[in-house]
Order: sequence, then C-alpha cells, then structure tokens
Amino acid sequence: MSQLEFDRRLVERLETLYATRDVLRRRELVRAALGARPGDRILDVGCGPGFYVIELLEAVGREGSVVGLDISADMLDVAAKRAEGHSNVKFHEADATSLPVPDASFDRAVCVQVLEYVGDVPTALGEMHRALRPGGRVVVWDVDWATVSWHAIDRQLTRRVLAAWDKHLTHPSLPRTLAAQLRNGGFEDVQMDAHAFATTQLIPDAYGGSLVALVEQYVAEQGGMTRQEAKAWADEQRELGDRGEFFFAVTQFCFTATRRS
Ligand SMILES: C[S@@+](CC[C@H](N)C(=O)[O-])C[C@H]1O[C@@H](n2cnc3c(N)ncnc32)[C@H](O)[C@@H]1O
Repeated sequence: MSQLEFDRRLVERLETLYATRDVLRRRELVRAALGARPGDRILDVGCGPGFYVIELLEAVGREGSVVGLDISADMLDVAAKRAEGHSNVKFHEADATSLPVPDASFDRAVCVQVLEYVGDVPTALGEMHRALRPGGRVVVWDVDWATVSWHAIDRQLTRRVLAAWDKHLTHPSLPRTLAAQLRNGGFEDVQMDAHAFATTQLIPDAYGGSLVALVEQYVAEQGGMTRQEAKAWADEQRELGDRGEFFFAVTQFCFTATRRS
C-alpha cells in the first residue's frame, strides 16, 4: 500500500475535481483567510495544477507576484500552462521540506491539502516560516479523514475501504496536531476554522460525490483490496445515490498564523 501518486493520470482527475462546486467553495474560503492584497508576494507550497496561483495573480495585480512549487513535475506542467502569459509568476519543482526561495521573501504563504502527504511536517512548517517576512501570514488547510461519515449498507466493507483509503497519505488526521505544530514552529496568532463538506447527492459537484470513483480506483490499485471488493463498495454507493439515499460528510480545517514581527 502506498501514498497517492500525483502523476499525469491523477492530474487529469484533479483538473476536473478542482473545477467542482465544493472545491470552488474551498478556494473562496482559503482566499478569504489569506487576504491577499495588491502588491503582495505569495508562495503556494504544493500548488498542484495551479488554480490558486492564477486566482492569486489576479488578487496581487502586476505589482505583486506568485511563486508556485510542487514535488510533481506533471502538476507543474499543468500549472505553468494555466499561468501562461503572466510575467510575475515562477514555478519550482521542489519538496515542501526544502524550499528554493530566499529568507523572508514573501508576504503570504498558502499550503492547501499538501502537508497531510509530507513526512516531515515540522521541517515544512519551518521552511514556510523562514520564507515569510516578519508579520507575514500563512494559511494551511488539511482534512481530518477520521471525520468521514459515509452512509452504507455494508458497513464492514466501508470500514475496510476507509482503512485502505487512509494509506493514500502520510497523516490521515493531521489537523489534530497542526495548531501546536505551528506554534512550535515559531508562528503566533494561530487560529483554526472547521468547515463541513457534506452532501446527500452523489454528484461530481459535491466533494463526497467526486470521491467515490477516486477511492474505488485507489483502494483497488494501491490500497490492497481486490477490484471486485472496490467495485462492490462503489456500486453500493451508486445504488444509494440512485435511490436518493446517499450521505457523505467530512470536516476540513483551515489554519491561519503569522510570523512574529
Ligand atoms: C491534493 S493536491 C493539492 C493541490 C493544491 N494545493 C490545491 O489545493 O489545489 C496535493 C499536492 O501536493 C503536492 N505534494 C505532495 N507532497 C509534496 C511535497 N513533499 N512537497 C511539495 N509538494 C507536495 C502534490 O504533488 C500535489 O500537487
């Protein structure tokens, strides 16, 4: 069993997922928490396909700039295409634990659903702290996968699917320790908001609806379950959806903090 690979196939899937209603809502919440202003220099750690990069370029205007970095070259290809034509953006292929940027060179940093995949979270937080100027603001967003509430008829199979899905990342419940880790990393004014993403509809626009196919594929290919087991679970969810009995909820957490002035 292994962590999700952010390769070309997943990039294509995320391109679709990140244009859906719930992910748009998430980006609005992140942007509000970040509070980017014209002229800001912004760092996006784990920028993925670059949706935040392009939206933040608009917020900072020509006087500002955005740097996106990601460990996946496939993600960066897509992000760079998305930002084509902008001269105030740079991309780096890099690990969150070793940022190729100078000290104190950013006003704000954003890191959305990335640290849950990073082995050494304290080092990644330390790097964002180093990259921010004194008084600079960070927004870190992660999911506590233990908060998933998923209606099922075969509850035992669903428990096994969720246990297998937990292997797709390094820290399934990272938000539980993030406030303390941010404070230990030298940040102050650490705040947390919890946001429920819940739906009774199996539709792609709902976070839970879009997860069914992704989870089915992961648990069969990398999560240690058989294709038949994964399909049986997903078919049951699709049946519940057809009958109007689908239910999914998860809590996602938005942390904000500042580097001491
Ligand atoms: C779930 S995606 C989120 C993408 C983007 N932040 C967003 O919300 O639109 C996670 C991203 O983190 C990147 N990632 C995972 N581990 C990383 C690491 N150690 N350093 C940098 N990026 C990493 C992946 O390549 C992927 O693009």
